Amino acid sequence: MDAFEIRGGRPLRGETRVYGAKNAALPILAATVMAEETCVIEGVPELEDVRVMTDILRSLGARVERDGDRITVDPRAIAHTNVPSDLMKKMRSSIFLMGPLLARFGEVCVSKPGGCVIGQRPIDYHLRGMRLLGAAIEERHGFIRCLSGRLYGASITLDFPSVGATENLIMAAALADGVTVLENAAREPEIVDLANFLSRCGAEIEGAGESRIVIRGVHHLHGCVYRIIPDRIVAGTILIAAAATRGGVTVSGVRPDHLNALLGKLRDAGVRVESERDIISVECPDGYRAVDVRTAPYPGFPTDLQAPLMAMMTTAEGTSVIRENVFEARFKHVNELLRMGADITVDLRAAVVRGVPRLSGAAVECTDLRGGAALVIAGLMAEGVTRVEGLHHIDRGYQQVDVYLRDLGADIVRLRGGPSA
Ligand code: UD1
Repeated sequence: MDAFEIRGGRPLRGETRVYGAKNAALPILAATVMAEETCVIEGVPELEDVRVMTDILRSLGARVERDGDRITVDPRAIAHTNVPSDLMKKMRSSIFLMGPLLARFGEVCVSKPGGCVIGQRPIDYHLRGMRLLGAAIEERHGFIRCLSGRLYGASITLDFPSVGATENLIMAAALADGVTVLENAAREPEIVDLANFLSRCGAEIEGAGESRIVIRGVHHLHGCVYRIIPDRIVAGTILIAAAATRGGVTVSGVRPDHLNALLGKLRDAGVRVESERDIISVECPDGYRAVDVRTAPYPGFPTDLQAPLMAMMTTAEGTSVIRENVFEARFKHVNELLRMGADITVDLRAAVVRGVPRLSGAAVECTDLRGGAALVIAGLMAEGVTRVEGLHHIDRGYQQVDVYLRDLGADIVRLRGGPSA
């Protein structure tokens, strides 16, 4: 099992560039099966989750080629609509194939995704929406089989603005007969990106990025060339790491408007933040104050940056209350931060983080993707050596994070396949 060995205490300094967003790439790659021509997606990060998605597309019969950050998908040879359960189990986002395959081919069979470490993660909103669009759904022996001659536009109100359900339903409705109105939709930038991609292929979607999205179904989608948006969560993680190590970093290739909630919190904490066009800089040589955070659907503070921000808050001046409102069990990283000397208590959905003068290096284990990023940040902040195990979680969402951090002056190495410390 790979591990990172981090010698902490060095401020991150320098300039870096972010790559395309995993959470935009995954639904957009899934949506390519709806087109009747080749699609070229640019800016796609090299990540394990993306590899699983392209493996799924190939298993369905699509021709998929990667050349650098560009992936070409030719969906014309898709021969069946059963998503292989071994690949489905590797990545929850394979549920994104449900809407596109159902809309394009009138049927789909996927295995039911299980819960995961950050919560139950049910898919009831996805299924209810598909039923309202006219699909017959049978759940048996861990499989979900959806059938529809055609899908028909419907009025759908989500109980909670779920990102995945909004995306799945936009895709299904794009090829349905008639108009679909989606209320209480999620507003994340990745949803706007998916809608822009589909529109480039000929779909008619209005209101993406707002709570009410109107989709006029069309009969065909053609191919296109599309560049996905920069990864706001990767950019946010680097900015937090820079501030937490009392450093100064400039990140380019970003959309500052996608990171308003984080930048506001960093400023409240006393971090100097500057942004213009596609560049954000932070500078924080003298430490920072504790801030309170509540995660919320976009444009609120992103749940995916909750763990990284918590790592930063462990050595803030004062006490920070961090409330998780999106996932019910997203505090698994707390135990590992405690091993490094943090002072945190968790009461249901709130973590109280009392700032300590410094963290100390320890052997810790990633529990999930963003929790893993938090441990890397904590390792960079800590005195002494931190060994972070369970890197497969981090590799799902951060492309060669050790190389990026080394370029910014971090002392971090990947130990390949060695025995546990
Ligand atoms: C996406 C992101 C993930 C991010 C999350 C919230 C991708 C690939 N992943 O995940 O990084 O943390 O948005 O911003 O884009 N829920 C239900 N029933 C459903 C669907 C969701 O109860 O049918 C609940 C979930 O359990 C959770 C909340 O709604 O408590 C939000 O989940 P959702 O927005 O759907 O997250 P994902 O799309 O899975």
